[in-house]
Amino acid sequence: MSQLIRYEVRDRIAILTVDNPPVNALGPGVVEGIEEAVARANGDAGADAMVLIGHGSTFIAGADIKIFGTIKTREQSLARSEAMHARLKRIEDATKPLVAAIHGNALGGGLEIAMSCHYRVMAADAKVGQPEVLLGIIPGAGGTQRLPRLCEAALAIEMCTAGKPVPAAKALAAGIVDDVVSGNLLDGAIEFARARAAAREVRKTRDLTTKTDRNAGVAACAAARTTLAATAKGLQAPFKAIDAIEAAFTLDFEAGSARERELFADCVTSTECRALVHMFFADREAAKVPDVPKDTPVVPIARAAVIGAGTMGGGIAMAYANAGIPVLLKDVDDAAVQRGMATIRKNYESSVAKGRMTADAMARTMALITPTTNYDGFDQADIVVEAVFENMDLKKTTFAELAKVTKPTCILASNTSTLDIDEFAQASGRPAQVIGHHFFSPANVMKLLEIVRGKETSKEAIATSLALAKKLGKVGVVVGNCFGFVANRMIAYYMREAYLLLEEGATVSQIDGALTEFGMPVGPFGMQDIAGIDVGWRIRQHLKLTGQTRAEGPQSEVPDRLYELGRYGQKTGAGWYRYEAGSRTRIPDPMVDEIAAAEAAKRGITRRKVTNEEIISRIMTALANEGARIIEEGYATRASDIDAVYCYGFGYPRHKGGPMFYADTVGLPTVLERVKEYREQFGDYWQPAALLEKRAAEGRGFHS
Ligand code: 3HC
Ligand code: NAI
Repeated sequence: MSQLIRYEVRDRIAILTVDNPPVNALGPGVVEGIEEAVARANGDAGADAMVLIGHGSTFIAGADIKIFGTIKTREQSLARSEAMHARLKRIEDATKPLVAAIHGNALGGGLEIAMSCHYRVMAADAKVGQPEVLLGIIPGAGGTQRLPRLCEAALAIEMCTAGKPVPAAKALAAGIVDDVVSGNLLDGAIEFARARAAAREVRKTRDLTTKTDRNAGVAACAAARTTLAATAKGLQAPFKAIDAIEAAFTLDFEAGSARERELFADCVTSTECRALVHMFFADREAAKVPDVPKDTPVVPIARAAVIGAGTMGGGIAMAYANAGIPVLLKDVDDAAVQRGMATIRKNYESSVAKGRMTADAMARTMALITPTTNYDGFDQADIVVEAVFENMDLKKTTFAELAKVTKPTCILASNTSTLDIDEFAQASGRPAQVIGHHFFSPANVMKLLEIVRGKETSKEAIATSLALAKKLGKVGVVVGNCFGFVANRMIAYYMREAYLLLEEGATVSQIDGALTEFGMPVGPFGMQDIAGIDVGWRIRQHLKLTGQTRAEGPQSEVPDRLYELGRYGQKTGAGWYRYEAGSRTRIPDPMVDEIAAAEAAKRGITRRKVTNEEIISRIMTALANEGARIIEEGYATRASDIDAVYCYGFGYPRHKGGPMFYADTVGLPTVLERVKEYREQFGDYWQPAALLEKRAAEGRGFHS
């Protein structure tokens, strides 16, 4: 009997417990073990029925995601799927009632196993889901065939194409599970199993007809394809999931399963799958900092305070309140703090209007944010986040004050985007507690939290920040204290190439179009119109004073010309695009292209036709090369951290795996070749990073 499945009989019910920490994933031996245990219970004269349950915090979280990387060919995939389908059928053929008892999550292969049991009962706070699409695959263990036999087509399609898990009450109402247990789950499942045994009831999901009939099912699939054409551009897995579900309506179970295996094989061998699996692990790797052990003490964050109720401070306060953490929000005077509170209220009201939040939840969440103009209550805060103007003297004064009004264990975080946090760490006199918490705008929405460690930042402050990021629903990535940290340092290269391509002859809408086609949610110019052209201008002025540049090479003056014209972006109705009053629709403006042509003439550039291919190649090569330099210099721990930063900070498409993973898919020798070509063509500011040269020479990728 497998070590991974425990077998015991309690009051004539066999209990099969999956014990494969941490999440009972279906690693080698697990499904085999379940099959063996079912066979044992079938032959056990002392058992009338069986319950399959998970040990620890969850039922089964799905296939072992690491395995997907080992499937290299369609043939390997088909062989594995065939074996899996056969095993699940043998489990489903159990001769005594088999009940899945679900707590935590039954996800992917976990739900597919549960659906291969005869019945399912669920804890009230548990969830079931088919999140495979988030990994670039489709349910591959019969999920696309069994799910539509339990619930309506629309829900099966939604679960398999969006990947969002469904809570117990909804799963029960839909027919995916048979009961929700409010008390002890195992006791409830045993009772349920005993009743089925008494009634001699065994129900195989695969023998049921689909809950929606053939015509309506096919129509639902067609409608979903139309919707996805707009929402899932560039992805293949959601469409393959619909094809597989459609087969449940048009074919019998055997033929439908064969179709699922074919479609799964298309997906698991795709770059989309490799990239998304890479991102799954990148998210989790980011929380691991080599010199900060897992058992580093963490300061519990029960109360927070934010200084500066502007764009960022307001959003940060919302992020805390959304996580249920009471937060003080301080600004210089009543007018400023009330302005901040009014913006917060407006944001929540808009969520309520869109049905994303109830009015009650809004009232509860707003009540967690207390506006203030003084330091009363700061002595209770476990963390303070500073988000005042980007000014070194002001920040130093603020940190010195904070050290006086907070308790000695309080973490003092700064949301600075460009300043050296070591300077205000010194000003505080408590440098071990000082750390950068670089949120992205809007801070209540964007998932990235760059955690910037200073020279003297303590391991406890880092571990606390990582735990806190998770609590705030963010992906925390620890980075070093260089100018622009990782995200803004990278974006400087992204923008440099965009400006230069514009001067060379591409248009604003062509460059933005090429990047949105690539998968970015918005192109570089559209993005700058949202952030404000004045913001970049201010940073450039500051750098000019100190004789620095953000990215070496020619510094385009096109954005300065726009700034001088008062074209700051959406907020002034014009920037890189024009905007009608009250609208955010980007209207291309030939005037901007004329400015670019004039600036190009000043710099002696002969304008030419630039292809979309070149746009992507230049921008992506610049990103990968700079990313390699950041790793080389020790400001990022690993390439996947840079991928996480770019995906969560700027919306880089996860299905391309981030800029460093994308470079790996292009091939590092090709990327290196391109850097050298650009050096020849444009000048010595293109220099290959040593790490890029090394990895290319070794035949390795950034991630291998
Ligand atoms: N395979 C391998 N490892 C997994 C895993 C899986 N399915 N699910 C989680 N893990 C690992 C994580 O990498 C992490 O490892 P680490 O501690 O070394 O970093 C550890 O388990 C804990 O995971 P989390 O940090 O994510 O823990 P949470 O408690 O926050 O979340 C969870 C738990 C909701 C189960 C979340 O881990 C999750 O969503 N997992 C993935 C679920 C999934 O996508 N399942 C479908 C797989 S594909 C499939 O089943 C195909 C089938 O159709 C054939
Ligand atoms: P903002 O101008 O919108 O808000 C700053 C607020 O700080 C104002 O309300 C101001 O009254 C207040 N303030 C000034 N001095 C204060 C003091 N002594 N005590 C209390 N409040 C004081 O600025 P924004 O955009 O919110 O930026 C704040 C910080 O966040 C800056 O360091 C900025 O670089 C950084 N940042 C900004 C991002 C953005 O997209 N706007 C993104 C990431 C970081």
